[in-house]
Parts: sequence; C-alpha cells; structure tokens
Amino acid sequence: TIFCSATRHTHRPAYIPNQIPDPQYVRVFDTTVRDGEQSPGASMTSKEKLDVARQLAKLGVDIIEAGFPAASNDDLDAVKMIAKEVGNEVDENGYVPVICGLARCNKRDIDASWEAVKHAKRPRIHTFIATSEIHMKHKLKKTKEEVIEKARSMVSYARSLGCDDVEFSPEDAGRSDREFLYQILAEVINAGATTLNIPDTVGYTMPNEFGQLIADIRANTKGIENVIVSTHCQNDLGLSTANTLAGARAGARQVEVTINGIGERAGNASLEEVSVWAHDIWVVMALKCRGDRVLGGLYTGINTEQIIMSSKMVEEFSGLHVQPHKAIVGANAFAHESGIHQDGMLKHKNTYEIISPEDIGLHRSNKSGIVLGKLRYAMPNCVCSALLPQLGYDIDSKDLDDLFWRFKAVAEKKMSITDDDLIALVSDVVFQP
Ligand code: KIV
Repeated sequence: TIFCSATRHTHRPAYIPNQIPDPQYVRVFDTTVRDGEQSPGASMTSKEKLDVARQLAKLGVDIIEAGFPAASNDDLDAVKMIAKEVGNEVDENGYVPVICGLARCNKRDIDASWEAVKHAKRPRIHTFIATSEIHMKHKLKKTKEEVIEKARSMVSYARSLGCDDVEFSPEDAGRSDREFLYQILAEVINAGATTLNIPDTVGYTMPNEFGQLIADIRANTKGIENVIVSTHCQNDLGLSTANTLAGARAGARQVEVTINGIGERAGNASLEEVSVWAHDIWVVMALKCRGDRVLGGLYTGINTEQIIMSSKMVEEFSGLHVQPHKAIVGANAFAHESGIHQDGMLKHKNTYEIISPEDIGLHRSNKSGIVLGKLRYAMPNCVCSALLPQLGYDIDSKDLDDLFWRFKAVAEKKMSITDDDLIALVSDVVFQP
C-alpha cells in the first residue's frame, strides 16, 4: 500500500560538517527562529525562542538557525543562550543539534555570529551575499568581482576564527547567472565553506528548474564533492515544498525549512510537509526497491511524532495562526466532511488518510475524524449507525431514526457537530421519558 508509515530511524549518521556518511540521509536545517521570525508580526521573546529551540531538538532537527546576532543585542543574547543550553544538551545517542548564526559577508556580522554560537558543541556560521544581477546592481552596488572577493575573504575570515563549520549562501541564486554561481561557489569552497546553500530567495523557480539548478551546480562547480549542497526555498508561488523536494532528488542533502512554513512574505518550505514527504519517499522507495525498509530513498532524523507539538508551540509564540486546510498540521488535515468520504473512512481509514494522525503526534478527541457538518444531507443513516458503536453506543433502528431527525435539526443551527453533541442527542433519544 502507498501509505506513509512513521517508522523512525534510530540511526543518524555521524556529524561531519562537510560530509554525510550515509548518502541517503538529508539534514534538516530549521530556521523558524531566524527566517521564520522575519514574518511580519511574528516576533518571539528570547525565552520563547529558547523553548522553540528545545522543542526543535526534541523533533530531531540537525541544525537550528537561532538568529541573526548582528541585528541587535537581544538577538545576540538569544542565540548565545540557545548555543549555551540547547547546543550542549547531548542525548543518550550522542545527538546534539548544530547551532547556527546568520551573518552578512562583513567582519562585524561574522564576529557577532561567532561570539554567539561558539558556546555550542557544534557551532556554525552562515554567511551570505547576493549574486543576482538585480541585487548586485541595485542593492549592493557592487561588481561581480567585488562580490566574489567579499564572499571568498569572509568565508576565509570565519574559518580563521576557529569555526570549522561555515555555510555560504549566494542570495537570490534562483535568479543568478549560472556561470557566475559556479565561479563564486568554487571560490568559497576553496576558502573553506563546508555547506553551500542555494536560496530561491523570492520563490521564483518552478520545481523542474530548481531541481535542474541543483543538478547543474553539482555537475559544474569545482570541488563540490567536498561539501554539502542545501536548499532554501521561499514560498512566493506556493512551490517551496515541491522545489525543496526537487532539490533533494537532485542531490541536495540539507533542506532549510521552518515550522508551519512561516517566514518572509509567503514564508518558507514547511518542515512538516518536507519531512513527512521525505519519510514517504523513503517508505515507498524502500518497499519498491528492497521491501525490507532498510535501503533506498531519502530519510531524515525527524521524529514525526513531535510535529503537532512543535506546530502548536510556534503558532502560539509567533501569533501566526495555522490555516485550517494547511497540509499536515491544519485543523482540517484529518477531518472528513463529505458523506462519501465518511462512508469510506468508516469502512477503512486508509481510503482517505495517507498518514496516521498519531504518527505526527495528533491524538484526536474525535477518533474517527468525521465531521458532522454542513454536508449532513449526504450523511446516510449508516454513518450514524457505524459511528455510534465507535463511541460506545448501540441503539435500535427506531431510536436511530429519531436520532437522525434530531441531529438534522441541530445541524441546521451549528456549523459542525462534535462527538459530544452526538452523545447528548443519543442521551435525549435513549433516556426520553
Ligand atoms: O531567502 C534567503 O535568501 C535567505 C538567505 C539568507 C539564506 O534567507
């Protein structure tokens, strides 16, 4: 069956900055408290950022981008606190997340970033500079040569501080000239970069284009085999998850994501969508290729059972509400309204659910996920009769008929009817004098 099972990988390859011992493993780089916090109206206190970082560690992300330390003293302090605490909490399997700080390609930013992250067991500096014509000309007012020189010298400077894990991003890579990208990326590899992140900063590319961009960079950049290639896909055209997966299929082994997909403008690729899909690719491929679920396909270290908890925490702290129809974590993601779907669900839950809600940590109070709502006229009596035994009731056909008419009367007035409403109605029918 094509059904996403949440078997968790207990094996996580050893952390080496510029290589991954298992070629199928995809590192998850979470930027909820950095890029995510850049969402308009979504600021978090330092304590909230620390709580989110701790939850991200529980979730099993490999790298936590904890902030932009040069932006303010508060940012610097928050990143430092996360580095000191979460960056030193090693679990029984030796897992501790990398703590990363963002920096533009200048010494002040890089110093601030290092000052904050150096307290972690695994510190990383992430430095970036724009490489598209439009950014270089209008924003940076720099020539290509000047941009290359900045990138090369600042990666080298970050390494000289004692940081052996340096990520470089050519901002707006999705709209940058290919030959120029190959050139600047080769220069920063030579200067000591360990991860090359390829941002589609304005969410401009289509999945086939973004996949091809990653493939071309891997094929044409000198020294690329010595580093990890990463994706960072914004969601301006609603394609961030598709682009991220296309990048991973083309050989990227780090994906940059946020919880609930929050971030600048239309947000980022969402961790829950990408990691559940990575899981799915892994399960489907494993069944197809080996059948023993050991080899084949991509996988991450994400503990999917922590997804709902992470989503709720970020929703509360950021104040950004998750839309009800959001994939994986939306309130309606596991709710079934139409009569045809309800009928299918009551016969076999995999008819309309490809993931078990429990596998992402969702324990519905309404076990069936059946919504008795505005499509109530499509609801045949059999739905009522199948649902009631699930709720622990067994009533005869006369009472069932009575119940159905009472149910319809209430449904005229309410948007949806919960299990508790149904239980109250059953009591009225069964216990009427
Ligand atoms: O969107 C972007 O380009 C970024 C980079 C700093 C990675 O956030």
